[in-house]
Amino acid sequence: MIGLIFGPPGSGKGTQAGRIEKEFGMSHLSTGEILRSEVAHGSAVGNEAARIMAAGDLVPDDLIDRIVESLLRRTDSSSSVLLDGFPRTVEQAKALDRMLADLNRNVDFVVALDVPEPVLVDRLLHRAAVEGRADDTREAILERMHEYRLRTASVLDHYRRLGVPVAEVDGVGAVDEVFDRVRDEIKRVLGGKQRARGI
Ligand code: AP5
Ligand code: MG
Repeated sequence: MIGLIFGPPGSGKGTQAGRIEKEFGMSHLSTGEILRSEVAHGSAVGNEAARIMAAGDLVPDDLIDRIVESLLRRTDSSSSVLLDGFPRTVEQAKALDRMLADLNRNVDFVVALDVPEPVLVDRLLHRAAVEGRADDTREAILERMHEYRLRTASVLDHYRRLGVPVAEVDGVGAVDEVFDRVRDEIKRVLGGKQRARGI
């Protein structure tokens, strides 16, 4: 099974992914975390991505596509993967669909967290004070929101057009409350797939 956890910066993708991973036995694959680890290690990829990420812009599609493809190729075909932060452009979505088709797999569901922008900015500024992530400055946060609206939000329509179940979940409220909604939606999608296969 391949799932996507989707939403704007600060919507709780990473937080909810940790819970989904435990509840549904999926491996969480976050492109943002992979890139931050490359930056921390000073690798060639990290050096290319560091400045772009700190400014809140998106790293080039071909760079991120190569990272995801090599990870997916190394993943057992029976294992379940939850992608977080990828695909982030329609071009990346098309690249992912091609990679998965090569592996006889496909995107099974998308969970999209819906959180109003002022709440997102507050969450990220709060995290800046606690964790100091390089892209949690006010300027970079606004640029990340802009990139999301401009290039990322349309990925949902791409999957709707393909007939992939897209569950929009209210991401405001306590983490546990949001997870209850997320879990119900994933169970609903999985139940529908089993019924379609006559299980
Ligand atoms: P990425 O790491 O994906 O960051 P992001 O999308 O900006 O989102 P965040 O990780 O900040 O937020 P989140 O939705 O995971 O929320 P979280 O759970 O942390 O990408 C970073 C950068 O890498 C990009 O800008 C780009 O440069 C590059 N990149 C990555 N993937 C790429 C790709 N595919 N293509 C091109 N470039 C790419 O929660 C946020 C905060 O809110 C936390 O402090 C958390 O504790 C808190 N919180 C969570 N849930 C709740 C709740 N219910 N109530 C209150 N607080 C909450
Ligand atoms: Mg995250």
